[in-house]
Amino acid sequence: MNILIIGSGGREHAIAMALSKSPNNNRLFALPGNPGIREYCECIDIDVSNFREIKNFSKNNNIDLVIVGPEVPICEGISDYLKGDKIDVFAPSQEASKLESSKKFTKEIAFENNIPTGKAKWFNNQTEASVYLEKLEAPYVIKADGLAAGKGVAICENIKDANNSLIDIFDGKFGSGQSVLIEDFLYGEELSYFAITDGKEILPLIGAQDHKRLLDKDEGPNTGGMGAYCPPPMLSSELENKIMMQILEPTIYGLKKRGIEYKGILFAGLMVKENEPSLIEYNIRFGDPETQALLMLLKSDFTELLIETMNGNIKNYNLEWEKKRAITVVLANNGYPSQYNTNAEIHGIKEAEKDPNVKIFHAGTSISNGALTATGGRVLNVTSMADTLEEARRHAYSAIEKISYKGKIYRNDIAWRALSKIT
Ligand code: AMP
Ligand code: GLY
Repeated sequence: MNILIIGSGGREHAIAMALSKSPNNNRLFALPGNPGIREYCECIDIDVSNFREIKNFSKNNNIDLVIVGPEVPICEGISDYLKGDKIDVFAPSQEASKLESSKKFTKEIAFENNIPTGKAKWFNNQTEASVYLEKLEAPYVIKADGLAAGKGVAICENIKDANNSLIDIFDGKFGSGQSVLIEDFLYGEELSYFAITDGKEILPLIGAQDHKRLLDKDEGPNTGGMGAYCPPPMLSSELENKIMMQILEPTIYGLKKRGIEYKGILFAGLMVKENEPSLIEYNIRFGDPETQALLMLLKSDFTELLIETMNGNIKNYNLEWEKKRAITVVLANNGYPSQYNTNAEIHGIKEAEKDPNVKIFHAGTSISNGALTATGGRVLNVTSMADTLEEARRHAYSAIEKISYKGKIYRNDIAWRALSKIT
C-alpha cells in the first residue's frame, strides 16, 4: 500500500505514526507535512487546496489511498475530485461534509430525525436576528453558518456582546453572504465522540475530552484545542449506546433519506447533562488534538481499518484498544489564538522523548537554517500513554519541562475534570 496523508498538523503526525505501525504499507507520503511527520513519511510540498497537483502526484506515485486531515479540502470536495480519477480517499463527499461546513444543514438533519440538540433559528437579516435575541436569556449562542476555523461561535453573557457578534458576522468577518444561527445554550460537560462508517455500518471508536479555552480553569478565548485525554471516565457503555442510538445512527439514516452516503470518520461534538447527550456540532474529520491521544491507544491495525471502511466492510474489522489512558498537552506560541511571534528555536524534544511513555507530535514547526523553530500558533503536542490518567499526565508534564522555546505557553490543568472525579 502507498498512502498519502493530507495536512500538516499534530493530528496528521499522529495519523502517520499509527499508519507506520502497519505491516501493510510500502510507502507513506504527506503533503505538505511538517518536520515531525518526516519521521514516517516523505513530505511533498504541494498545497492542500491544489487538487490538480494532488491528483497528478497520486497517479505518478501509485497512491492506493489518500487520507485527509483538515476540513477545508474535504468541504471543498477533494474526495469527489480524486474519486473521479479512481483514487480512493478516506474522507466523506462534499455533500456529506455539509455536516461540518453548514451548521444550518446539521440542524435540519437533527430536527428532521429527532436528534437531541439545542433549539435554534437562523437568520439572513441582522435586524430580525436582533429582535429574536431580545426574547432570549443569556448566555446567548451565536454562530456563523459556514466554516470559520473554530472561530465562528460566540457565547455572550450579555445582549450588547451578542449584538456585536451579529454585527461581526453580517459585516463578513467570517466570509460574505453569511447567515447566522442563534441557538439555545446547552449546559453540561462536553465530549468529543468518534465513529467510522463505511456507508452501511457505524463502528463506534472512542470518546475524548478537549479543552477549548486558552487558559487554566477554562478561561480565556476559544482555541482549536489546548489538550485532550482519552477515554474520559464519564463515557459509560450506557452513554455510548445513547450516543449511537439517539445521535449517530439517526444522522446516517437521515443523510441516507436525502440520498447522501457518508463514508469516513464522523466526530460528534456533544454536551452531556445527567448522562443525556445532545449534539452541539459535527466534524467530518479527526479532531485535533483529540486524535493525538486517541491513536496512541489504538492497538489494532489502522491501515486495515481505513481499507475495510473503503471496501464497505467495517463489520469484519476487529477493533482493539490498549487498556490504558492517553493525554496530550498542546504547547502553543504566546499570543495564540491571536497574533504571535514565530521562529523561536525549539530545544529538548529528544530529551523529552527519552521517556518511553511520551511521544511529541509536531503541529506548527519548521526547519529554518537547520534549526527546528516554532512557527505555528499550536506548536507541539506532548502526548503520553500510561496505565492510569494520573500517570500519563505526570509523564506529559515532566516531558514539557524538558522542552524550551521563547514564547512557550500551555495549560497546566489538562484532564482536570476527569481527575477531580477520580480523586
Ligand atoms: P462549535 O464550533 O459549534 O463546536 O462551538 C465551539 C464551542 O462553543 C463548543 O465546543 C462549545 O464549547 C461552545 N458551544 C457551541 N454551541 C454551544 C451551545 N449551544 N451551548 C453551549 N456551548 C456551546
Ligand atoms: N478539537 C476540536 C476540533 O478538532 O475541532
